[in-house]
Amino acid sequence: MAAGIDDISIYIPSLYIDAADFAEARGLDPVKLQKGLGVSQMAIVDANQDPACLAANACLKIMQKNKLSPEDIGRLYVSTESSFDESKAMNSYVVGMLEQVYGQGAFEHCGGVETKFACVSGSYALYDNTNWIRAGESEGKHALVVVSDIAKYDMGSSGEMTQGAGAVVMLLNDNPRLLSFDPKVTSTSIKDEYDFYRPFGKETPIVHGQYSNLLYLIQVRKAADAYKKKAIATGLIKLESGETILDHLDYINLHLPYSNMGKKALAYWVRHEWRQLPRWKRILQEIGIDEPIPKDPRGTIESVLGDEEFMAKDHEFTKLFTQTHEYQEVYESKLASSLIASSMIGNLYTASLYLGFRSSLEFEYQKGIDLEGKRIGFGSYGSGSSAMVFSGVVQPEYEDIVKNMNLEMEIGPRRKLTLDEYEDLHENKITPDNSMLNKKKEFVLVDVKTETESRGERRYIFNE
Ligand code: HMG
Repeated sequence: MAAGIDDISIYIPSLYIDAADFAEARGLDPVKLQKGLGVSQMAIVDANQDPACLAANACLKIMQKNKLSPEDIGRLYVSTESSFDESKAMNSYVVGMLEQVYGQGAFEHCGGVETKFACVSGSYALYDNTNWIRAGESEGKHALVVVSDIAKYDMGSSGEMTQGAGAVVMLLNDNPRLLSFDPKVTSTSIKDEYDFYRPFGKETPIVHGQYSNLLYLIQVRKAADAYKKKAIATGLIKLESGETILDHLDYINLHLPYSNMGKKALAYWVRHEWRQLPRWKRILQEIGIDEPIPKDPRGTIESVLGDEEFMAKDHEFTKLFTQTHEYQEVYESKLASSLIASSMIGNLYTASLYLGFRSSLEFEYQKGIDLEGKRIGFGSYGSGSSAMVFSGVVQPEYEDIVKNMNLEMEIGPRRKLTLDEYEDLHENKITPDNSMLNKKKEFVLVDVKTETESRGERRYIFNE
């Protein structure tokens, strides 16, 4: 049975900070953000917004757009790592908000949980809901999987230049207009790691930035190797001599903590695949230097990062590799369009991969390419750590959805924050009733109770 993504909507907060202003305030070269990381703007939440509001606003949008009633929805999953309660799932807040519009009890029949595994949890939620549909359990109903996060790092930390916020919701069913997932090839890797984590009660994560970069590459490669084995074993992909699995993926969408991480990850994956092929000899000639090898043959992340000579040489090699004609062709045709939205919005943690998917569809379609039948490969990564690699095929009715996509219109008018305003919001100095924009026709947070017996209770309204 087919199962996959029928439609997709996004909700992005209307406040942002500009990378150049931010760099100036932190004494950084703006080129580091714009060119080095691929960050131009970072979306910031207002004082009356939290990840549950973002999720509910995205859900309302997709339901209104598709004229769905709560009866049409069988499952509502929320994936987030910006959770504010250790027990009450974010779904219940989202349902509470939606019922302010659809009526109390309107979602009573609906099931769902909040899923957590840093940025990869949305992919697990998609997979589980796809299998709910494939198993014939959905009885004609749709699933909503909403991924919603606020990527917030300590002020003055190196992570601060990779912030962002927003939600992406995907409508899943057994007759999807956008993308049908390939069965029996989804592959995962998992390892107990401390690259990025957020202990109880701490609002911002503890991050080992360069460690996290390398771990992401390794974990996605491991899941990609497992995907390759399954894709060949199931007959989904048949490799001719001299071919790699990447030749059979028309597009590649990768987790984007910042847009250039997608470039790094693609280069790493492509190198790993091409190294075994006859074409590699030609590419090495074009690069003009040998591919460096770390001194320590065990190749642990610590030993690789500590091997300064290797790191410098590998950096140079990667740079030359990414300038080759062969790599450029893969980058431009398979990845580049997915990065556009990320550079305008920033890291959305769980939602980043799917914002990239949305971006790729819109900007590839705008090039005049017929996307029907194109196979899209996904590389999802979550710190802590786990990766998931899977794929799907664009469906014949995709145009009904994609022809109306307009990222700028869907984000809506935005207001640029001054650095002082941003810092006040970051340090939670502004209360919900003093929000910067009191946006209408949206769910907003009114207050969070502080009394002992009701501490943590959140009140939301649909702002008429
Ligand atoms: P950093 O270490 O300060 O930056 O912070 P850098 O020195 O690595 O520089 C970044 C890039 O800018 C480099 O490009 C520099 O060369 C370049 P590359 O060599 O990699 O191609 N650069 C310049 N370019 C032009 N002009 C200049 C200039 N200076 C430097 N003047 C880091 C970067 C990502 C580590 C930091 O921002 C951070 O810690 N971010 C948070 C963690 C993160 O995003 N990790 C990504 C992988 S883990 C992940 O994706 C999971 C995550 O989403 C969480 C989850 O799963 O829940 C984070």
